Amino acid sequence: MDSIIVTGGSPLHGQIPIAGAKNACLAVMPAALLSEEPLTLTNAPRLSDIRTMTELLQSLGAEVTHLQSGQVLALSGHDLNNVTADYEIVRKMRASILVLGPLLARAGRAVVSLPGGCAIGARPVDLHLRALEAMGAELDLREGYVHAKAPPGGLHGAEFEFPMVSVGATENALMAATLAKGTTVLKNAAREPEIVDLAQCLRQMGAKIEGEGTSTITIEGTDRLHGATHPVVVDRIELGTYMLAPAICGGEVECLGGRMELVGSFCEKLDAAGIHVEETERGLKVARRNGRVNAVNVVTEPFPGFPTDLQAQMMALLCTAEGTSVLEERIFENRFMHAPELMRMGASIEVHGGTATVTGVERLKGARVMATDLRASVSLILAGLAAEGETLVSRVYHLDRGYERVEEKLSAVGATIERVKGE
Ligand code: EPZ
Repeated sequence: MDSIIVTGGSPLHGQIPIAGAKNACLAVMPAALLSEEPLTLTNAPRLSDIRTMTELLQSLGAEVTHLQSGQVLALSGHDLNNVTADYEIVRKMRASILVLGPLLARAGRAVVSLPGGCAIGARPVDLHLRALEAMGAELDLREGYVHAKAPPGGLHGAEFEFPMVSVGATENALMAATLAKGTTVLKNAAREPEIVDLAQCLRQMGAKIEGEGTSTITIEGTDRLHGATHPVVVDRIELGTYMLAPAICGGEVECLGGRMELVGSFCEKLDAAGIHVEETERGLKVARRNGRVNAVNVVTEPFPGFPTDLQAQMMALLCTAEGTSVLEERIFENRFMHAPELMRMGASIEVHGGTATVTGVERLKGARVMATDLRASVSLILAGLAAEGETLVSRVYHLDRGYERVEEKLSAVGATIERVKGE
């Protein structure tokens, strides 16, 4: 397994291009199953999770070709010939559940393995199932699989209020509703930019959707969707992660493609910490003034609140802040795996349930660390950039799920970072 070695201490200067969003791309790829015509996605990120979704869609009979070294994906659901998403693929990536809604809507049937828990929490899929049931789906859970069947006339429109906000359940319901008969109203829907991106892609394909980006989305079902070309939205989590790099170790970095509206609540916290963020013509420029950053309190919430996917990276910054910060994780029950690893680097952190109290220290120290989750892994790299000496982050396959060429992007702005190939 590959490792990454970071030597801390150098301020960063330059530009980092931000890729297309992993989580948006993982949602729009299954949309190809809704149509017989081709769907082309541009600005796709080159990540192992995208390759896993490719494998899953291909196992269903879809064609997926990676062009321009993976930045363009040509998909076609023309020859859909299998409605079973196998455990062997689903267990690798929870986002596989996103084929359920499209398969059910297009083929009237779907058999999808239940994803099971993962490192950051139990993560059930009950809301995905309840929304589809409201549209008339008959569901049966057997041997670890959801067996779903649409009623004889196909799925029908429904009014469904999510009891809690779920990104994935909103995406599944939204895709299914595009081919359902009649109108679907999704209330308490997720408002994340990835939902807006999916709605824009579906609209390009001929779907009738209103209200994406608000908590009520209305979808008028149509008989068929057609082909389209769609650019994947910028990755706001990759953006936030790289904005934290100069915030942590000093310097000035422009994140190309970054937009303030994607990271509003995160930027408010950076500002409170004393980090300067400026909109430029090409993105967002981040600079750290001299001296330590201020402690700030953070509560993770659905969009437009502070994203859970930036909590670990923000904690890395706050480890060297002046004073005590409290981070409350409200989305996932077990998302502080990075805390004990940061403590190996000299951080002072106390975790009680969903709350972590971080008392800033002047300097972190390099150490051998590892993490079991993508965002936790990258937080350790950020911490390594600020630490004295060398930090070795092992098990970086988690990182490769969500960050393309992290070592290249950071070394281009002056970081001392390299990948060591493992067996
Ligand atoms: C998406 O996961 C993202 N993944 C996650 O990205 C992100 O952390 C999360 O949204 C929250 O923003 C993708 O888009 C592929 P949820 P998702 O359904 O859709 C509970 C990353 O690092 N819940 O919004 O699975 C759930 O357990 C990651 O890139 C139910 O109880 O998240 C959680 O507590 C990891 N029942 C909360 O809702 C359900 O049926 C929010 O989860 C569904 C969810």
